[in-house]
Amino acid sequence: MRRQNVMENETLKTLESLRSVHWNFNEKPVSREDIETIVQHSMKAANSDNLTDYSVIVVTDPEVLNTITGGESQGKAATCLVYAIDQTRILRCAKALGYDQYQPLHRLYNFFIMLGDVFAAAQTAVVAAKALGIDSLMTNFSHRHHPKEIMKLLNLPEEYCFPVIQVVLGYSDRDPKQTRGRLPMKHVLHYDQYQPASEAEVQAMIEEMDQVYPEYISDQYKHALDWYFNEWFIEWYDEPTYRELYECLRNSKLVYEPD
Ligand SMILES: Cc1cc2nc3c(=O)[nH]c(=O)nc-3n(C[C@H](O)[C@H](O)[C@H](O)COP(=O)(O)O)c2cc1C
Repeated sequence: MRRQNVMENETLKTLESLRSVHWNFNEKPVSREDIETIVQHSMKAANSDNLTDYSVIVVTDPEVLNTITGGESQGKAATCLVYAIDQTRILRCAKALGYDQYQPLHRLYNFFIMLGDVFAAAQTAVVAAKALGIDSLMTNFSHRHHPKEIMKLLNLPEEYCFPVIQVVLGYSDRDPKQTRGRLPMKHVLHYDQYQPASEAEVQAMIEEMDQVYPEYISDQYKHALDWYFNEWFIEWYDEPTYRELYECLRNSKLVYEPD
């Protein structure tokens, strides 16, 4: 009976229907009204200290999107919500109230808090969009393609602000493929105390990945995870991009005060 209630629950049905659309969006634009409904509801996510310590920049220009994604958007029209952690507003408020010397305390702790807030908001946007029949892609391209240039193009402040995660919105003609690449919950869920995976469970996980990704098995790779270890878990950043990312984050003063 309870299982049936679960199956009929509209919110759970929406969650079941989530899938990432890897830029295969059609031309239909997402209306401004829908964008604002999505962002408004994404802001319902839990929010530490009630500070709303993030900003959302909506990018719709295909050319700008192509530049900031380093070509990943393939010049296609889509709506991209750039979620940036943002402490500039609270600092401006401090200044307006005469706290000229105010500096965010415990920067690393704040950084974790802001990451939590921004990811909660972004994922809530994904769910809100799906509830409106709009597909999405969560992407972290801002870490992989010249963050300095991205920040400049979007007019993001260099200090106390940093783009963390993007939610691309659009409509897709493709069949809703079920999400995959999730381990069964039994490997993830622990009651009371963490239980390390047994050797048998490790073998089960390797086989489960084989079942989910048979296309990665070949003469070269006996298991799907062999493909992962050799072809996917490789260095994503080239050295200059990594250095640029590090420098942007350092200059943002979000993690610590640079010397
Ligand atoms: C933090 C984060 C970053 C991601 N970045 C990208 C990305 O840059 N490009 C991309 O195509 N997918 C990205 N994804 C989406 C995953 O690839 C996707 O969730 C995974 O392939 C599983 O597909 P599904 O969501 O349809 O089940 C990202 C997801 C998360 C949570």
